Amino acid sequence: MKIFIDTANIEEIKEAVSIGIIDGVTTNPTLISREKSRPEDLFKQICSIVPGPVSAEVISLQADGMVGEARRLSEIAKNIVVKIPLVEDGLKAARILSQEGIRTNLTLCFSANQALLAAKCGASFISPFIGRLDDISLNGMELIRDIKTIYNNYGFKTEIIVASIRNPLHVLDAARIGADIATIPFKVCQQLIKHPLTDIGIKKFLEDYRSIPQNK
Ligand code: G3P
Repeated sequence: MKIFIDTANIEEIKEAVSIGIIDGVTTNPTLISREKSRPEDLFKQICSIVPGPVSAEVISLQADGMVGEARRLSEIAKNIVVKIPLVEDGLKAARILSQEGIRTNLTLCFSANQALLAAKCGASFISPFIGRLDDISLNGMELIRDIKTIYNNYGFKTEIIVASIRNPLHVLDAARIGADIATIPFKVCQQLIKHPLTDIGIKKFLEDYRSIPQNK
């Protein structure tokens, strides 16, 4: 499973990249609003740090506006993927952009039927938001299972990005299902690494090593 980091924060991205676990980045307008730089400058900087796909979201709600924004965004760097909301105009825009060879990530997906339509329109990626479904007492992971089954049934190439991940269990379940990608907030990336037994084990090994006479 590929791991993307779900942030627009340069420090977080640099740190995660330095660990060697990051295959791409996803951003959204909320994440961008937390940073000081202009969106275009931020996208450029992120693309120079991470060679993999970097999702940048459009703001327009009409297909022609989305297409115009997407063309401008895709000129920032080769690895820009244009994020488009999963509405009727978003599907129209995805179709046009896929014919132009511009990669898209259809976002705010909350149903398997939406994911089916995104794939039919040539979306490169689909982003089902599992945490937000869990928040309203629905099962986000069931959605991932359904999309995986449907994409397998018909051989769609659209890659599933498990998004709105809130905890390590979400990542584990995504990997069990065989999702293509999990996009993970920095805090959850850190949680994936840590295990209390690892820390206890290191402490004990060091103590024992120091008890060897020549190491005292
Ligand atoms: O990738 C989608 C993500 O940014 C949304 O996460 O936690 O706001 O639902 P959240």
